[in-house]
Amino acid sequence: VPISNIRNFCIIAHIDHGKSTLADKLLQMTGTVQKREMKEQFLDNMDLERERGITIKLQAARMRFVLEKEPYCLNLIDTPGHVDFSYEVSRSLAACEGALLVVDASQGVEAQTLANVYLALENNLEIIPVMNKIDLPGAEPDRVSKEIEEIVGLDCSNAIHCSAKEGVGITEILSAIVKKIPPPQYTAEMPLRALIFDSYYDPYRGVIVYFRVVDGTIKKGDRIYFMASGKDYFADEIGVMSSNQMQVDELYAGEVGYLAASIRSVADARVGDTITHFGRKANESLPGYEEATPMVFCGLFPVDADQFPDLRDALEKLQLNDAALKFEPESSSAMGFGFRCGFLGLLHMEIVQERLEREYNLSLITTAPSVVYRVNCVNGDTLECSNPSLLPEPGKRRFIEEPYVKIEMLTPKEYIGPLMELGQDRRGEFKEMNYITENRASLIYLLPLAEMVGDFFDQLKSRSKGYASMEYSLVGYRESELVRLDIQINGELVEPLATIVHKDKAYSIGRALTKKLKELIPRQMFKVPIQACIGAKVIASESLSAIRKDVLSKCYGGDISRKKKLLKKQAEGKKRMKAIGKVDVPQEAFMAVLRLE
Ligand code: GTP
Repeated sequence: VPISNIRNFCIIAHIDHGKSTLADKLLQMTGTVQKREMKEQFLDNMDLERERGITIKLQAARMRFVLEKEPYCLNLIDTPGHVDFSYEVSRSLAACEGALLVVDASQGVEAQTLANVYLALENNLEIIPVMNKIDLPGAEPDRVSKEIEEIVGLDCSNAIHCSAKEGVGITEILSAIVKKIPPPQYTAEMPLRALIFDSYYDPYRGVIVYFRVVDGTIKKGDRIYFMASGKDYFADEIGVMSSNQMQVDELYAGEVGYLAASIRSVADARVGDTITHFGRKANESLPGYEEATPMVFCGLFPVDADQFPDLRDALEKLQLNDAALKFEPESSSAMGFGFRCGFLGLLHMEIVQERLEREYNLSLITTAPSVVYRVNCVNGDTLECSNPSLLPEPGKRRFIEEPYVKIEMLTPKEYIGPLMELGQDRRGEFKEMNYITENRASLIYLLPLAEMVGDFFDQLKSRSKGYASMEYSLVGYRESELVRLDIQINGELVEPLATIVHKDKAYSIGRALTKKLKELIPRQMFKVPIQACIGAKVIASESLSAIRKDVLSKCYGGDISRKKKLLKKQAEGKKRMKAIGKVDVPQEAFMAVLRLE
């Protein structure tokens, strides 16, 4: 089709508002995929994603749609729905001319949706509002349309009423995409510039790069150059994505496609990078490229020391497909050899941990996540410290700075009180409160990132009965009075249990943590003291009383199968324990500091 008949769009929606369901219906209605070849949801094709029902990785699909006898080519670029991946969202928006704003008409606009709408507006995208789930008895499309008009100032008088589930409103959406979203500009004569909005590693073909040609033309066999990574390759294969990848010879400005060029790691073809020709380089790369900066770090240690090489192999393999994952070896006397790993956020961390255990059969002990502190030392150096146990001694440091985030919570007005309490509890600095509609308010706080790592989101949800939503962004570093809280078990310092806390909270955290550890660590054959210290000073202590650990004494008689079952249970319990000195410490203990309330 000519460039005037191409439309590139994405879908902005809050988690669970129906993005995947709608995408599937668009694919079905345009005959891109037949119903029988559809898996649960076509666009989210990672198992983990499907299980959690959240979109993590973006991809694209090309659809053919005929309107008034004209054939159009519609490229849907999928966006992930979680803040950890907001950089990827921004790049996929940059690859489009328009967006569908899908809002659950029985709920309303959520914080993350708003953030993405503003991002879309900044990118000059045409936004088409869609009120989804109108089949639900509680749906109020008009109220929600008004809400969007009031908050974003977007005209919603023609918002499309839709039920993705029942297939209502789908043709209207397709027509609106053609009529309202502008076609790409014609710049095929210019030097090639293509924006990478996704990439993944394929063990047979190397990295598959998804891109939008912004200027110029790319042909099969071209020698291409990645402007940020500085690497060059031959484009062995280029193509488009309909129901499957389909090879083509050439792609022009405005088109969306993929390429394979025997690229060995996604780090060499990162999201946000610009592809140009090696022989005719563009003067300037496309705007918006950013390095991935890990925000949270944790230690990963194999339960069984023999698995250390396997853990390294697995991390290397995952990294091929995940440019944001960082790791380096870490060892401690308590834990043996493992890795210190950096992640974009908590969800990213959980995903990696889960994949390591599931796909690589590793049994791991994970230590509590830490943010990156900036330590200003007496000798004038500034150190970045993401491992509490490596924090320089008090005598060696002048002050410590910690990362702060600006967080916006959207909530029905009845939960303002509980959420303000939450903000206060977490060392938050109240910035502003606005009523965005009669019944809903937006609360803005500045808050240490460290206070958000952990159960902040769970607390937000439980204190608002599930109705509040939030969004955050990093705003920089601030000096805080921080101290390191160490934990000793049976007289032995357990480095991975060390945390950095605000000095005013150290005593209460010390007390709560020792108490929690006492609950979590199984009793041993001997008495075990558990102490929290700051430097040499013990600030809280508990002790586990001794027990004779004989599980079999419970089964009298000779019921052998019951005996076996008990032994098996005990063995399973052992799997996720780490022997620290003579004491077995379970996985939960390493995360205890996150769940003290
Ligand atoms: P993420 O992938 O987590 O971002 O969620 P999503 O926005 O893709 O939502 P998804 O399509 O997975 O839908 C969430 C839930 O809403 C699912 O249980 C859907 O079946 C349901 N749902 C989607 N559209 C409709 C609709 O039009 N009506 C009703 N009643 N339910 C819908």
